[in-house]
Amino acid sequence: MTSATCRTKTVSKTPACTTKLSPSSTAWRHKELAVTSAIRAAATGSTSRSRSTKSPTSELITIGKDVLELLSSAMYVDPLTIYREYIQNAADAIDDARRAGVLSKTDAGRVDININPVERSILIRDNGSGIAADRAAATLLSIGASGKRGTDARGFRGVGRLAGLAYCRVLTFRTRAAANEPVVEVAWDCVKLKSTLRDVTQTDDLPGVMKRIVSISELDGSGYPEHFFEVELTQVVRLRRDALLSAPQIETYLAQVAPVPFAREFRYAEKITAHLDGHVRMADLQIKIGAEGAPITRPYRDRFAVTDTVQDDACNVELLTFEGEDGLVAVGWLMHHSYLGHISTKSQVGGLRLRAGNVQIGAASLADEVFPEARFNGWCIGEIHVIDRRVLPNARRDDFEQNIHYANLLAELGPLGRAIAKRCRDASVARHRAREERVQSEAAEVPRPLSAGPSEGGQAVARSDLLGASFAASADRVASMQAADGELGLVEKLIRLIAASGATRAEVEYAFGETLRRQFDKD
Ligand SMILES: Nc1ncnc2c1ncn2[C@@H]1O[C@H](COP(=O)(O)OP(=O)(O)O)[C@@H](O)[C@H]1O
Ligand SMILES: [Mg+2]
Repeated sequence: MTSATCRTKTVSKTPACTTKLSPSSTAWRHKELAVTSAIRAAATGSTSRSRSTKSPTSELITIGKDVLELLSSAMYVDPLTIYREYIQNAADAIDDARRAGVLSKTDAGRVDININPVERSILIRDNGSGIAADRAAATLLSIGASGKRGTDARGFRGVGRLAGLAYCRVLTFRTRAAANEPVVEVAWDCVKLKSTLRDVTQTDDLPGVMKRIVSISELDGSGYPEHFFEVELTQVVRLRRDALLSAPQIETYLAQVAPVPFAREFRYAEKITAHLDGHVRMADLQIKIGAEGAPITRPYRDRFAVTDTVQDDACNVELLTFEGEDGLVAVGWLMHHSYLGHISTKSQVGGLRLRAGNVQIGAASLADEVFPEARFNGWCIGEIHVIDRRVLPNARRDDFEQNIHYANLLAELGPLGRAIAKRCRDASVARHRAREERVQSEAAEVPRPLSAGPSEGGQAVARSDLLGASFAASADRVASMQAADGELGLVEKLIRLIAASGATRAEVEYAFGETLRRQFDKD
């Protein structure tokens, strides 16, 4: 510190010495270099003295308790993301079970979500591989050390299961991998965790805190499935319209995000599934909320709501394949329709959705940057499934890691974004043209009261009568058009009808005046 201050002093004197030098002179350059290196040395603390460098020993490294907060409450913005984390784990475990033959190819990978609103608890159970008894506790106590890294599993950071810590009073995991094993239970006391995190006198490191707030038990396996994993959240906190306990909100969220199948009644379900299968780990989970719940499916249907009052129909599906220099980068599909405008978020289908491992990454707006105008993303319906394993979801799964491979993928999607934008614009132009023609033909049906040419005196009065009648007829017509087409304003329609009637401006003004005067006289 002292030497740095000393050097800084030297630096601060330098400009005074340099005042006599011309900025272009060699002497100036030398001075400048000397100053630059002095500043660098001051900043880095490096000196010309010899240096001994070593790696820190484990004793020097502390991983504090606050990491737990960073990995739970601070990590996710929307509480519903905890469902994505647990269902993603279930999908990985179900893939494992299929690979190991514990589940056959045709056995459904099941996830049952049970919500108890009275006790405010949630139980999410899957029929995947579970975790063997001798590894269960260690697996569930390790943080940021996932055994999945380097595999083709969806998770790989080893923290997702901690998402529930912020939202309940007790977070419990139970699992077993085979019938002859006990069930292992690992429970986190989240109340104790919160008070420990708040306690400034508490200086335990992360393992120290975990020893006090986590308990491990072995349970008699009777009554439990042969292989399963479950997570239970007890006394769930009330957040965002109690989203965590709201079956409709959970279903809406999972239908879009989770690796669930397409609905049978969606006419392109089979075609799309056949295109994705073989490239994408589909999982095709059978997720049910409550014993009576129907399996959740993706929200795509043949007909969908563009706005509260306007529906549109699918007319075609385009299957997509994106090849990069090193092979397949992504596959996907686009469902074509009439491109009437921005699709309401209520319909759950708008936007080109990006998925990895058949789980949606980020929101519907994530692919906005692929479009020449971001708004056109909201007009289209489709999915892009990332295959390139170098394109990695970030830890929050609200975006991908920004690397060259993701940049390449976005570049690959550019032509698609432009093609969609063109469809949106073309459809919009065609609609305006059709509307224009409709208005013109409607106007043509209105009796034409006037012949061309200026009007004078009594002739103008007769014409104004005719115009008045014509306007009355037009108003009726406009009212019926208004009902048929909510997009054109009444005034705009009147103006068009008047323009189409062939009246001059003077005639229109006169006729309006006369009509209004008579109306006043009547009143
Ligand atoms: N549903 C599950 N079935 C089997 N094992 C699971 C399940 N959920 C979590 N695990 C185990 O716990 C580990 C940690 O899970 P998690 O914290 O979500 O990290 P990640 O999924 O990134 O590995 C997983 O790697 C897996 O071994
Ligand atoms: Mg996970």
